[in-house]
Amino acid sequence: MGLKGRGLLITFEGIEGSGKTTQLKRLAAALKKQRYPVVSTHEPGGTPLGEKIRTLLVHSKTKISPETELFLFVSDRSNHVRNVIIPSLQKKQMVLCDRFTDSTIAYQAFGRSLSQKLLDGMNKLATGGLKPDITFFLDLPVQAGLRRAKSRGALNRLDRESSTFYARVRKGYYFLARKNSRIVIIDGSQSAEAIHAQILQKVNMLLSKFGQASSSNGRNRSK
Ligand code: TMP
Repeated sequence: MGLKGRGLLITFEGIEGSGKTTQLKRLAAALKKQRYPVVSTHEPGGTPLGEKIRTLLVHSKTKISPETELFLFVSDRSNHVRNVIIPSLQKKQMVLCDRFTDSTIAYQAFGRSLSQKLLDGMNKLATGGLKPDITFFLDLPVQAGLRRAKSRGALNRLDRESSTFYARVRKGYYFLARKNSRIVIIDGSQSAEAIHAQILQKVNMLLSKFGQASSSNGRNRSK
C-alpha cells in the first residue's frame, strides 16, 4: 500500500522492559497535540477477539508449543489488521502499534527457532502485505530490560523465559534492522525524554516527506 491517501503505520518493537509502551503513549500525545488523528493499538490484542487471544498467550498456565503460540499470534494479527489497522489507515489516521510482524520474527524465528521463511509467509498472509512505514526498535541489554520488566510486577508466561532466549530475540531485532531501512534503532538506556525527542523528530521528518498524504483530511496542524 502506498503512503499517499492514507495514514501512517508506526510500530514499536523491543524486548520486555525496553520502554516501547511508554514511548508509544508519548508519541500519541505529541501527534494529537499536532492535531493528527491517532489510533493507539497493540499486539497481541487490539480487538475483542485479540484480547481473548492475548489472555491465552500471556496468562496461560499450561504449556503452549511454539507452533501453537505462532498460530495464535498470527490469528490475532490477521484479525487486527483487517478490523483495526487497515480501516484506520484508510480514514487517514496515524496508527501507532505496540509490536507487529517484527515481533514474530524476533521471538518465534530467533527466540523459538521456527523457520523464518515460513514465518515471513505467515506474516504476509496475516497482513495482506501491509508493512509499517517506520518502526522504532527500542534496544536495551537483556538484563536491564528484564530488571525493568520485573520491577513492574508479576511476570507473565513469556516474561519468564531465560535470558538466553531474550538474547536471541535481541539478535533477531538487529538482523531485521540490518535488512529493513524502515527500522530505526534507538538506545533504550537514554532518558524517556531523550528517546521521545528522537522518535518525534523521525516521525515529523516522515510526515513532512508525505505531508500531502495526511493534510487532505482538513486537519489544521499547529507548529
Ligand atoms: P507485550 O509484553 O509487548 O505486551 O507482548 C506480549 C508478549 O508477546 C511479549 O513477550 C512478546 C510476545 N510476542 C511474540 O512472541 N510474538 C509476536 O508476534 C507478538 C506480537 C508478541
